[in-house]
Amino acid sequence: MCGIIGYIGKKQAYPIIINGLKKMEYRGYDSYGICVLDGDSVFLKKRVGRISSENSESECKGCISIGHSRWATTGSVCEKNAHPQEYNQFYVVHNGIVENYKELKEELIKKGHQFSSDTDTEVIAHLISEEFKGNLEDATKKALKKIIGSYGIAVISPKDKGKIVVAKLSSPIILGITDDGYIVASDPSAIINYTKQIITLDDNEIATLKEDSYTISKDKKIETIDWESDAVDKGDFEHFMLKEIMEEPRVIENAIQGRLLESDVKLGGLESSKERLKRTNKIYLVGCGTGYYAAKVGEYLMEEIGIIDAEAHMGSEVRYRNVRLNPDQTAIFVSQSGETADNLACLKKMKEANVLTLGVTNVIGSTQTRETEGGVYTRCGPEIAVASTKAFIGQITVLVMISLFLGRQRNLEEKEAKKIILELKNISKKADIVLKQAEKIKEIARKYSQYKDFFFIGRKFNYPIAMEGALKLKEISYVHAEGVTGGELKHGPLALIDETCPTIAICTKDSVYDKMLSNIEEVKARNGKVIAIATEGDSKIKEIATDVIYIPETLECLTPLLSAIPLHLFAYYFALALEKDIDKPRNLAKSVTVE
Ligand code: G6P
Repeated sequence: MCGIIGYIGKKQAYPIIINGLKKMEYRGYDSYGICVLDGDSVFLKKRVGRISSENSESECKGCISIGHSRWATTGSVCEKNAHPQEYNQFYVVHNGIVENYKELKEELIKKGHQFSSDTDTEVIAHLISEEFKGNLEDATKKALKKIIGSYGIAVISPKDKGKIVVAKLSSPIILGITDDGYIVASDPSAIINYTKQIITLDDNEIATLKEDSYTISKDKKIETIDWESDAVDKGDFEHFMLKEIMEEPRVIENAIQGRLLESDVKLGGLESSKERLKRTNKIYLVGCGTGYYAAKVGEYLMEEIGIIDAEAHMGSEVRYRNVRLNPDQTAIFVSQSGETADNLACLKKMKEANVLTLGVTNVIGSTQTRETEGGVYTRCGPEIAVASTKAFIGQITVLVMISLFLGRQRNLEEKEAKKIILELKNISKKADIVLKQAEKIKEIARKYSQYKDFFFIGRKFNYPIAMEGALKLKEISYVHAEGVTGGELKHGPLALIDETCPTIAICTKDSVYDKMLSNIEEVKARNGKVIAIATEGDSKIKEIATDVIYIPETLECLTPLLSAIPLHLFAYYFALALEKDIDKPRNLAKSVTVE
């Protein structure tokens, strides 16, 4: 949940590290630190708080440096626990967790080591010092053998000058190749301003970077990231979240580009799995947080368009369950980062059972894309706000296409496929129409911003959207919100409805429209206020709902691509009215690389 970065090359390292940390701040933002080597002298700076206000100019001239933005796991938030952690002039930045750090620490204390922080990371510096015989890479390798847990680390020391040693196990590490040197980081967003050429480290790999060369345990392919560098800047927007919501129509366009034929889809990442997909008789869709809600939409899509049984699961649950796995099943992992620890643990389990594994991923070169047998990129570009929005839209778009792919292998009629594809080609324009109502949604959000409890209801395709809307609101506003199916309302939630608890009802013109209208009536009968998300032209709803936000008409199976947008905007403007820290909500991190 932290961000690590390192630079070695011909340029002054300090500004590169500070700027990189600013780009990765969403990975952790309670404290930060930087260490620069300049010959024998060491510059070390650690601070509690946000890096955003840090000046990137510095007198320290060294060209070798490592840095870290922290999201505390072991040890409270204070300067001594910020990284780099140091012992005996070995400096370490770490993303991950050393699970056996207490035992290791005890052993080291018995040997006479003195610790100066409460972190698990500090033991790595001590272990490296213990093993050091003149070569930093050898010492790091030996030290890591003693560690149980996960790590992406970068190590420097004036005792073995002119190099950065990096290593990875279950936490991401990307190496960027620039004209003047090398940047290593947890995340491409810290790199793309300098280079698009990257190498992704695999688990248990160690790399040594020098000013003009690098070595990795085995030969690696250089990949090109197609993200635009300005994608990691806010531009004129006040928050990344608003910028990313406003990008949602473009996300749909990017995701479908070159992938839609007349009545079929062309998904390169599924080509080699074609035969196995034909044999597949059940699909598992696995995700966490917003990724899980996209997976849930995927479940409905697979059944409806894919003509196949499907089950959506949370990574954190299914990995411990006794689901019956076999090679005639396929698991699709839905994740923006491709690094979510619970998903990756589940991926391992699926692979061991010979289930075909596929990824719906945004980050190129992430662990999920490398460990799955195939998959489809969402092509959303970097998503910076902690609360995921455009990635959700990208994931659903891709899941629609995968469902079409499966459907066409089964009995989905050509006519039906054509209709969906045609609408998919047009839907970004409709998404633009939804965004045009931003001011109106802002007003509604402001009007309700003093309420402390909300229900979000929807049925069928809009049930996961209700859950997503509630999640977004609680993540960034810290108010209580629950997403339930309209059908479950009378089995419990209704007991909480009164004039103090508004309901957001997604009531579009579809196969469950009448049922949703009845649910709205139930809420109204208990004096509950209702904000309806309805289909343009529906005048009936105006008579019963307190407020209405209209979205254009579309096919039922594609509704989530439109109905999620006003809920993203509602959550954003609600949090804005409450003056919350929208891009970096308290206690949350974007990439959850610990279980
Ligand atoms: C965290 C983030 C969410 C995200 C979830 C899954 O909880 O705060 O925004 O939906 O992780 O992340 P993934 O990268 O797997 O989509």
